[in-house]
Amino acid sequence: MPSAAYDWIAGALETIHRAQWYRSPQALVGLPGPVVERHGQRVLNFASNDYLGLAGDPRLQAAAIAAVNDYGTGSTGSRLITGDRNLHRQLEQAIAQLKQTDDAIVFSAGYLANLGTIAALVGSRDLVLSDRYNHSSLINGAKLSGATFLEYGHCDLTDLQTLLEQHRPHHRRCLILTDTVFSMDGDLAPLPELLDLADRFAAMVLVDEAHSTGVFGATGAGCVESLGCTGRAIVQIGTLSKALGSLGGYVAGSAELIDFLRNRAATWIYSTGLSPADTAAALAAIQIVRAEPDRRDRLWRNVANLQRQLQQWLQSLPSTLQNRPAPYRLLPSASPILCLQGPDPATIVRLGRSLTEHGIWAGAIRPPTVPTSRLRFTLMASHEPAQIDRLVAAIDAVVRNVDHAAP
Ligand SMILES: Cc1ncc(COP(=O)(O)O)c(C=O)c1O
Repeated sequence: MPSAAYDWIAGALETIHRAQWYRSPQALVGLPGPVVERHGQRVLNFASNDYLGLAGDPRLQAAAIAAVNDYGTGSTGSRLITGDRNLHRQLEQAIAQLKQTDDAIVFSAGYLANLGTIAALVGSRDLVLSDRYNHSSLINGAKLSGATFLEYGHCDLTDLQTLLEQHRPHHRRCLILTDTVFSMDGDLAPLPELLDLADRFAAMVLVDEAHSTGVFGATGAGCVESLGCTGRAIVQIGTLSKALGSLGGYVAGSAELIDFLRNRAATWIYSTGLSPADTAAALAAIQIVRAEPDRRDRLWRNVANLQRQLQQWLQSLPSTLQNRPAPYRLLPSASPILCLQGPDPATIVRLGRSLTEHGIWAGAIRPPTVPTSRLRFTLMASHEPAQIDRLVAAIDAVVRNVDHAAP
């Protein structure tokens, strides 16, 4: 029955359309991978988080199917009531082993892991300091906690120190939040120095390893490993949904921390346990991450290849395209996320559309998600060198055509 109480929704949608912020899901057909079918078109996929190419791996599929046969499709309740299975504990132990922590706990999503953990660790008497470019789940976790929430400049430890000096003495606990790989830029947090600073101010540190788990470090444990911080006192959060090809989130850390979260993290206590299929697929993925380091080698070779080709291409661009206030530029990145910053939001949107016409799927990211507009490319271990060549050729064609043709 129509009710005037909901009329505002149509107006809000209209505003979203007017601001060009309207978005809708884009269905894929078939298995994920470097080539996917979308809207009846086969496209080269440079927009996925499936960094190791595991989301369509037959071994993950087989593990998920076996778990459905053994345990059914749903976990049926909270882990504390009816939802606990041996598989959950096996996965948690595998994560703790990978991360070299005492223990781990799995949530139904990385987003829920961040919300529940932050809100359990701090409250209204406490202080949260957060990198300005952090993921939405960290920001909303801080808001949910009721703590005083302040942002420091992106990777700016001088700014962080100033905020600690000014505000830390007035709060009971302090929690510093940072992504380790920043998802819309691809750069890394200065973790060792940040941990030293936190120690000086008796502050806890929570890192989000969503884009680094399985990708960074000799064993694939993430940036905590690759930046030499294994064993330090850190609350490590991550997701099972990117390089691990499944769904769910985790927290790894000390035995006390994990035990505390089992008793205080509302998004774990009052939410149904991770499904058997997702749990088993993630467990299979961790075994592959450990056993097949060559996947990471292939991924990093692809990253170096695209980075080198894009740098060469930028040098070949005519001065008419580059001599202006916001020239094309490769944003600093040390990860499989490479961003080509462009002149303005409208051009970036046109370039994104035009890339699709050339059979390339990449993100066209603009404000308010990020401060400056950019094309965002993510690499996978399963991309072939020829596919990367095709991407660079398409970028060259669309920039020369679309940008030159721009009004
Ligand atoms: C940095 C970061 N943290 C957390 C999440 C949330 O993880 P999930 O997709 O498992 O909810 C994402 C996912 O998009 C992310 O990019």
